Amino acid sequence: MKRAIVSGAAGFVGSHMCDRLLAEGIAVLALDNLLTGVERNIEHLRGHPDFEFRLQDVTLPFEVDSPADFVIHMASPASPRDYLMYPIETLDVGSLGTRQMLELAQRKSAKFLLTSTSETYGDPSVHPQVETYWGNVNPVGPRSCYDESKRFAEALTMAYHRHRGVRTSIARIFNTYGPRMKLNDGRVVPAFMDQALKGEPITIFGDGSQTRSFCYVSDMVDGLYRLLLSSEEYPVNLGNPREMTIGEFAAAILELTGSHGGVVHHDLPEDDPKQRRPDITKARRVLAWSPVVTLEEGMRRTVEYFRAVQPRGDADVPAEASV
Ligand SMILES: NC(=O)c1ccc[n+]([C@@H]2O[C@H](COP(=O)([O-])OP(=O)(O)OC[C@H]3O[C@@H](n4cnc5c(N)ncnc54)[C@H](O)[C@@H]3O)[C@@H](O)[C@H]2O)c1
Repeated sequence: MKRAIVSGAAGFVGSHMCDRLLAEGIAVLALDNLLTGVERNIEHLRGHPDFEFRLQDVTLPFEVDSPADFVIHMASPASPRDYLMYPIETLDVGSLGTRQMLELAQRKSAKFLLTSTSETYGDPSVHPQVETYWGNVNPVGPRSCYDESKRFAEALTMAYHRHRGVRTSIARIFNTYGPRMKLNDGRVVPAFMDQALKGEPITIFGDGSQTRSFCYVSDMVDGLYRLLLSSEEYPVNLGNPREMTIGEFAAAILELTGSHGGVVHHDLPEDDPKQRRPDITKARRVLAWSPVVTLEEGMRRTVEYFRAVQPRGDADVPAEASV
């Protein structure tokens, strides 16, 4: 049986990745320090014979006795609210944490997968973003703790690939949404859904003309899984290329939830990207991957999930919630 070591396994995407690996018959050692994740995300896996959870900060040295075929480094605060609250931890997990995970992959002769981000493109001057675009990042802005942490993590990954012969892949993840996101993490989808479900006005930063594209989590995990099995060493964008304005998105959520709360506008935060859409030509070519869940379907499943958790005012995820 193949084995994977997954950091950030108690997080939103990480927990879904664990589900997918186990479904593929791959045993999982899940590592997480629960900085921004919650054990409840993986509670349903407790007792699974091929699943083990270890409370571990991956910026610190640690050892794993068993062999591993895959090392998947997903640990990192990912929502703006989280990384602005934990800027140093974010830089540490992208630098020291990536180093620990790469060393582990080297020791185990395992394939290494890094979950990087579209934030490596910063506020892009190329649209849509292709992997060959080097980005437009403010290295000293408030968001630099995340953007530069991931850019460093990519550079370190390539150095281990080139100089240590580690088999590596890098996913540049664009906005992903779905069940197990935290209601209060400040990201657009849960924030809008939370306000709409409470009948409150949806808060739009700026005039709402900035664009985003949203990928449903099962599509994202499928792309990550394909990349894990591939031999592509340069970054691959994973995301949904369907782009919409934040204003349109808010309107869609108001309709879906039946809310009459309307919208209110607040000032745009510093360094907020104006446009964001992945060019997934490369993912289509090298992974034969593209998203299949429509925004309507994905939002419906997510609203259903948030409806289940919201009355409890519970930002965490009940294991029994429908995914
Ligand atoms: N969700 C998205 O839209 C998105 C977009 C781009 C990139 N990503 C990347 O995908 C990965 C997962 O994101 P997510 O949305 O699931 O975020 P998340 O915050 O839900 O999960 C991250 C997990 O990492 C853990 N973690 C943080 N620091 C750690 C440390 N030092 N040691 C061990 N565990 C640690 C947290 O406790 C959490 O469980 C991240 O690397 C993120 O940068 C996500």
